[in-house]
Amino acid sequence: MTDHAFARPFFARIATAAAGLLLSFGAFAAAGGPVEQSGTDIGDRASLQRGAQLYMNYCAGCHSLKFMRYSRMAEDLGLTEDEVMNNLNLTGAAFGEHIISSMPAAQSAQWFGQTPPDLSLITRVRGSDWVFTYLKSFYIDETRPLGWNNTLFPNASMPNPLWEMQGVLRPVHGEPDDIGEPTVAHLEVGTPGSQNAQQFDQTVRDITAFLEYVGEPAALKRQRLGVWVLLFLTFLTFMAWLLKKEYWRDVH
Ligand code: HEC
Repeated sequence: MTDHAFARPFFARIATAAAGLLLSFGAFAAAGGPVEQSGTDIGDRASLQRGAQLYMNYCAGCHSLKFMRYSRMAEDLGLTEDEVMNNLNLTGAAFGEHIISSMPAAQSAQWFGQTPPDLSLITRVRGSDWVFTYLKSFYIDETRPLGWNNTLFPNASMPNPLWEMQGVLRPVHGEPDDIGEPTVAHLEVGTPGSQNAQQFDQTVRDITAFLEYVGEPAALKRQRLGVWVLLFLTFLTFMAWLLKKEYWRDVH
């Protein structure tokens, strides 16, 4: 193989990656207002465990995770079968089954105008920062059927599932837009919730981290494996150094 033949696919790959990067920036720009950094850490097992519990309590009633089984989650998050079946599985599904919401799709479409989408891949589609920001951006809006709106995802048909912890935010309106519709300049706390802003950030971060793990369960194993690979490389370098010393002793 000539250098040239090698170089072409290599540069083609770089070019494709660069194009992909540009396109994804474009997609972010189109997705709505600015997003906040989620600060998730899927290596933090306690955060994932809290996120799983919060998810089951506040989201699983409407949203399925059709690619994740209870048993796989137990193994990855270091939970026993009993812990999962008693605290996290609220639908009576078997341990080996997928995490499917018990809400009937037809009825939820009637209630919300939309069937709540499966969230297995949501952080890969929208990004973790988007999901984190979305969950923090609900506000009270009497013009909407369920009384809730969202600054990041305007007219979303999901009611704020976390309002008891977050409190109820209300909009501070800015100048009307081109067609005279009201705009939201920012949100302020109307009624405080059971958590302060910092605690609520952590709550939402835990849920987002859990969804990030669900979107790519192999990432956990990769991260743990990575530590061993680095240790091995360090060890190998050390051995190579010893060997070099040994050889050069004869030369000197
Ligand atoms: C009462 C039912 C209900 C609950 C509870 C609920 N959701 Fe939703 N969710 C919906 C509906 C309905 C939509 C569709 C919104 C739309 O497209 O207008 C939605 C949409 C979403 C989306 C956006 C999906 C997209 O289109 O990109 C995300 C993310 C999401 N939900 C996350 C959550 C999380 C996380 C929780 C728990 C903290 C939760 N939801 C709890 C009903 C619910």
